[in-house]
Amino acid sequence: MKQILLLGGTGWLGQTISLQALDRGHSVTALARGTKPFTPGVRAVIADREAPDAYEQVAGRAWDLVIELTDRPPFAREAVQHLGGSAGNWVFISSCSVYDLQSEPGADETARTAEPLPGAEDGEDADFGRAKSACEEVSVRYRNGGALVVRPGLIGGPGDPSGRSTYWPLRFAERRDPVLVPKAPDGEAHVQIIDVRDLAAFILDAGLAGEHGYVNAVGEAHRLGQALEMAREAAATVAASNGRPAPEHQVVGYDVSRMAADGVNPWAGPTSLPLLLPPGDGYAGFARRSDARALQLGLRRRSLRQTFEDIVRSGGETDVDSLSSGLTAAEEQRLLAR
Ligand SMILES: NC(=O)c1ccc[n+]([C@@H]2O[C@H](COP(=O)([O-])OP(=O)(O)OC[C@H]3O[C@@H](n4cnc5c(N)ncnc54)[C@H](OP(=O)(O)O)[C@@H]3O)[C@@H](O)[C@H]2O)c1
Repeated sequence: MKQILLLGGTGWLGQTISLQALDRGHSVTALARGTKPFTPGVRAVIADREAPDAYEQVAGRAWDLVIELTDRPPFAREAVQHLGGSAGNWVFISSCSVYDLQSEPGADETARTAEPLPGAEDGEDADFGRAKSACEEVSVRYRNGGALVVRPGLIGGPGDPSGRSTYWPLRFAERRDPVLVPKAPDGEAHVQIIDVRDLAAFILDAGLAGEHGYVNAVGEAHRLGQALEMAREAAATVAASNGRPAPEHQVVGYDVSRMAADGVNPWAGPTSLPLLLPPGDGYAGFARRSDARALQLGLRRRSLRQTFEDIVRSGGETDVDSLSSGLTAAEEQRLLAR
């Protein structure tokens, strides 16, 4: 049994890691303010990382593995200063947003990263990539290189709080017709979704094995059109397995050049076509990052189709109007009526 400390641990990924670590028989401690529930079975340490004594309850213990989930450089620095010397292994959960350019398909971990925010200070939301870059820098430096920096791409799966990975399968699971989908030139739009459960397993496997360095943790790359087709098939498969007729949808292609005029957003959030990238060359390599190192380190991935089926199975009755991303029924109707 290993002693695992999560700095964070009450968010979606943190909870998934906690559940898997407990299932494997490890002892799991999570440090957070407690704004969301801790996973049952986890030792909860309630602390605000803004406070000078934030790490007092977890310092001085020989953690086998520390998993740091923050995007705030001062938190990353103070945690590694307080705990980094005695921890066996250290994993920092970063993001593919650290990369300076998103235009080169197949780029690996040696691609240039954004300038870290100076002095490991906090930034604005728009500085997310630079903040993660600063967190990476302090984590690796204070550990003298003895850290694994995991850079997830888009994380998806059942319960995705962002709604980006859940909108399309749940929309196809609804019996409302027709379904509005982006009509995008097929070569341009890709998606690369890593299932949260596969990511959690990889973090535990590679972290406990003491792997070091940088690794993209991304899903298999698919064209957006293929992914939407998989979402439609997943909804049909789950309906059939529940003894119901498959929803037979008419699909209407939406001309994405109208998005700005129609007030429709790409990628995520309210009134959006989730997973669709903004137009332009700058994103030609987005969702097409190299997964070679992760696979070499043992990342195992279920298919995107499987992820979509599980989303429908676990949330088939979910009204897409309640998701954080996508079009509401009324918005879709408005666009279809044009
Ligand atoms: N979603 C994606 O597609 C994606 C892609 C790439 C990378 N990532 C990265 O993946 C990770 C996702 O983590 P997650 O799903 O577990 O969710 P999260 O929302 O990032 O979790 C943040 C954790 O930090 C804790 N926290 C926040 N402020 C705190 C404070 N002042 N003091 C103590 N604890 C504090 C939160 O709990 P309390 O609020 O209770 O304190 C929570 O447990 C993040 O590192 C994210 O940047 C996500």
